[in-house]
Amino acid sequence: MNKIKLGVIFGGQSTEHDVSIVSGSSVIKNLNKEKYEIYPIYISKDGVWYHYTKDIDKVEIFNIGEEPKEIEKIPNEMEVLKEQDIIFPVLHGLYGEDGTIQGLLELLKIPYVGCKVLASSICMDKVYAKMVFEKANIKQTKYIVLNSSNKDYIYIDEELNYANMKTDEICKMVEEKLGYPVFVKPSNSGSSVGVNKAENKKELIKAIEIASKYDKEILIEEGIDGKEVECAVLGTDNPEASCVGQILSADEFYDYDSKYKNAESKTLIPADIDKQTEEEIRKTAVKAFKAVRGTSLARVDFFVDRKTNEVYLNEINTMPGFTTISMYPKLWEHCNVKYAELLDRLIELALKE
Ligand SMILES: Nc1ncnc2c1ncn2[C@@H]1O[C@H](COP(=O)(O)OP(=O)(O)O)[C@@H](O)[C@H]1O
Ligand SMILES: [Mg+2]
Repeated sequence: MNKIKLGVIFGGQSTEHDVSIVSGSSVIKNLNKEKYEIYPIYISKDGVWYHYTKDIDKVEIFNIGEEPKEIEKIPNEMEVLKEQDIIFPVLHGLYGEDGTIQGLLELLKIPYVGCKVLASSICMDKVYAKMVFEKANIKQTKYIVLNSSNKDYIYIDEELNYANMKTDEICKMVEEKLGYPVFVKPSNSGSSVGVNKAENKKELIKAIEIASKYDKEILIEEGIDGKEVECAVLGTDNPEASCVGQILSADEFYDYDSKYKNAESKTLIPADIDKQTEEEIRKTAVKAFKAVRGTSLARVDFFVDRKTNEVYLNEINTMPGFTTISMYPKLWEHCNVKYAELLDRLIELALKE
């Protein structure tokens, strides 16, 4: 049997470059080398494409912050892509998880693992994702949207009207509509980069300033005192939900360091929630996945209010962390789908389309 030519892309130009290197190397290490002829493509932070030339059987999983050394610049990216039977873009964040690379692969008519252009771009934009979830009547946190392209901020209301606002007015509106604490995020964030919690006006102003460095669109959300739980979805025509896992963050909230650097952060599978709540989450995960027209995979993240048990959808990640200790593969492992088998299934799904 001929091997399937599989291009694995990792690294990339987003703030999640380092995470993608860990995810990508985990995927390469665990792929069945009898089945796949792997062509690893590393994209540097400044967007240059390289062939990662290390002997495939010797590829080890990178530590966070490590960069691949055995690399050779690819002279013609399109040619290399076209030589592959399928591409696995293990890229997180902008230019990877947002529909851009998916668009390129569509144009070249190359099958690829994961969500298509529309689902990828909706989920990368937290503001637009919220609108879709609203339409599907899925419970989520109350929020306010700002645009920061001007010196003053622009408030974007429920009907998408734009109104200039001074910082003071924004703070007042946040206090009236949401109340502290709030979470301030760039609409296109990932891995918590640019996300901050604000407990008062001073922190709010600072958090808006920080978020606006990453994106013009800013989302301000009511803070939920909840358990953070996540559900893995797999499939296209009949997407299935895994059991539910919980994040036990080492820090006050699950920021970049607690995600990737603080060994005290733990995951708990199954989550510490009752059966009924778990079923609600699994159902909502599939519903949300369908609402954005997801295909193949996504990790759907929720908060469960500690007092009321109410379930709030937080976000969908269309290319979730894929290290061997990441929640997405771990949730499936808990459902008896081993990491290598999960990769096979994702590739099969993509080839079937
Ligand atoms: N509304 C909220 N209430 C409570 N915690 C939140 C809220 N929004 C975000 N957080 C915290 O911030 C983290 C990062 O926010 P998130 O929206 O998931 O962004 P990212 O896409 O960067 O992961 C979450 O994992 C959670 O710990
Ligand atoms: Mg998140």
